[in-house]
Amino acid sequence: MDWHHYLGARMNQSPDFVRYLCSMAQSLEFSALDSRADQYTELGKQWESLFRGERNRIANLANVTAVLKSAFEWHWIGFYLVDFKEDQLVLGPFQGPLACTRLFHGKGVCAAAWDQKRPQLVPNVEEFNGHVACSSLTQSEMVLPIIVDDRVVAVLDIDSEHLADFSNEDLWGLIPLVDCIAEHWDQWE
Ligand code: SME
Repeated sequence: MDWHHYLGARMNQSPDFVRYLCSMAQSLEFSALDSRADQYTELGKQWESLFRGERNRIANLANVTAVLKSAFEWHWIGFYLVDFKEDQLVLGPFQGPLACTRLFHGKGVCAAAWDQKRPQLVPNVEEFNGHVACSSLTQSEMVLPIIVDDRVVAVLDIDSEHLADFSNEDLWGLIPLVDCIAEHWDQWE
């Protein structure tokens, strides 16, 4: 049984919704053949619909990481969520190897995006002072903050095994995603 059928068989959702998700998964697989720019264009049209019908934050963020992993095959893709009580970043849904569970102000790329409220593009993690090396294979990294009502609620962290794997094209390609997540954030449970 392939995973589309597995998904359809296991999900307690309406047949229409299951069909919709399966067709989306197929189009995403197809888009894995396209250039990165084309993939961003294609994915940009679909984020809104990925969240249709589900209000659970973890479920939606988990599916985002799955979609990005299957489209781009980056080494590690995941969310760190702001733990407002502890004033730390705590590991959220991700795809890839085991990761650090907590990150702290002033240390690492995720914390820089959190502290500065700005995306971070790091072509060589070795040259980033204080980089937190959860995986020795990571060579370059990109982190985008998710900002709701002027405060960072989470960051999207993407790591590559290749040097200088990310550019402004990737940032612009993923900004619609983080904006879409930010718009939904408070409606999610
Ligand atoms: N690279 C991050 C730490 C998280 S792991 O890469 C998954 C950082 O320096 O913030």
